[in-house]
Amino acid sequence: MTIITTIDDLQCLAKRRVPRMFYDYADAGSWTESTYRANSADFASIKFRQRVAVNLANRTLASTMVGQAVSMPVALAPTGLTGMQHADGEILAARAAERFGVPFTLSTMSICSIEDVAAHTSKPFWFQLYVMKDRDFIERLIERARAAGCSALVLTLDLQVLGQRHKDIRNGLSAPPKPTRSTIINLMTKPRWCLGMLGTRRHGFGNIVGHAKSVSDMSSLSAWTTQQFDPSLSWDDVEWIKKRWGGTLIIKGIMDPDDARLAADSGADALIVSNHGGRQLDGAQSSIAALGPIVEAVGKRIEVHMDGGVRSGQDVLRAVAMGARGVYIGRPFLYGLGAMGEAGVTKCLDIIRNELDLTMAFCGLRDIQDVDRRILLDQER
Ligand SMILES: Cc1cc2nc3c(=O)[nH]c(=O)nc-3n(C[C@H](O)[C@H](O)[C@H](O)COP(=O)(O)O)c2cc1C
Repeated sequence: MTIITTIDDLQCLAKRRVPRMFYDYADAGSWTESTYRANSADFASIKFRQRVAVNLANRTLASTMVGQAVSMPVALAPTGLTGMQHADGEILAARAAERFGVPFTLSTMSICSIEDVAAHTSKPFWFQLYVMKDRDFIERLIERARAAGCSALVLTLDLQVLGQRHKDIRNGLSAPPKPTRSTIINLMTKPRWCLGMLGTRRHGFGNIVGHAKSVSDMSSLSAWTTQQFDPSLSWDDVEWIKKRWGGTLIIKGIMDPDDARLAADSGADALIVSNHGGRQLDGAQSSIAALGPIVEAVGKRIEVHMDGGVRSGQDVLRAVAMGARGVYIGRPFLYGLGAMGEAGVTKCLDIIRNELDLTMAFCGLRDIQDVDRRILLDQER
């Protein structure tokens, strides 16, 4: 039996259990993957101040993100094709997050639809929106998210054009997978995954098929998707979407203080410092390096969240110390899901919570609300 104590352990197990095409899809960054690597590597250089002999009884990680209570300041990031890491993946991850008391964000490009996830959960989740050229479709998607009771809209701005991941091209990524010789040979080594997929009818993009004009099946879908990401997206669209939605709005994909000021001007409730997990602009700096200047520029006007490269509770604490009100994890929960389904997502959250709690204690604090730059060594402050 495999003993799991770290996110790396979950990753190793996911690699064994998930077909190569989908494991690589989750794991890869764009082009040379330099930003993808920097995202996690840059965390390691941020050092804590160890404190001793302070009262560490009754610690709490409870906080809020955009005014909503969270058991720790960690949310599940929106990730496309999550239902290909494991059958019914979005439903399983949303349930694990709900039981844990942290937000789950459903991607526009999910396998399970908004309505499907709502039907299998009992608390509101967040919905992530990509801006497509078909604005009628976007309007209807916003309506559907509202009708499903979603409590925040996460608007992603960094995918006007698509970053290239070499592995996805080589693997011929598609959902469901096309039956080529090498895919079939690979699938034969993943019996658990195949059994799960045989037991579900959720195999395509649930939010799109049957909802977008002229998309009724997989082949019309892939043609539609590649044409639909909108290169002309602007801050006027953000205003339009904000009006249509009317609820809590979080802007995702900000890496520059000038864009952060525009996000704050837009009246959004929060922004996410994010380079899409190193999947878009290869050569951009890491998210944790971008965080400090953005907090300094707009931290008093808008809640600042971050994602990218978080692989432990220590990383969560580093980001919170540098001013992030909340931190999202993408790949870590996908590895958990691919490794062990819902139990794997819970395991991932457990690992992070335990590490976060102990690290905060080692730094001499009992309440996550008291964490700030003072827990970091001088060069970080
Ligand atoms: C497999 C995968 C799919 C993703 N799909 C989306 C998506 O549909 N929408 C979105 O806004 N971000 C998407 N992202 C980016 C994540 O929301 C998040 O920014 C990133 O995963 C954070 O980095 P991490 O994976 O190192 O935690 C995706 C990331 C991954 C790994």
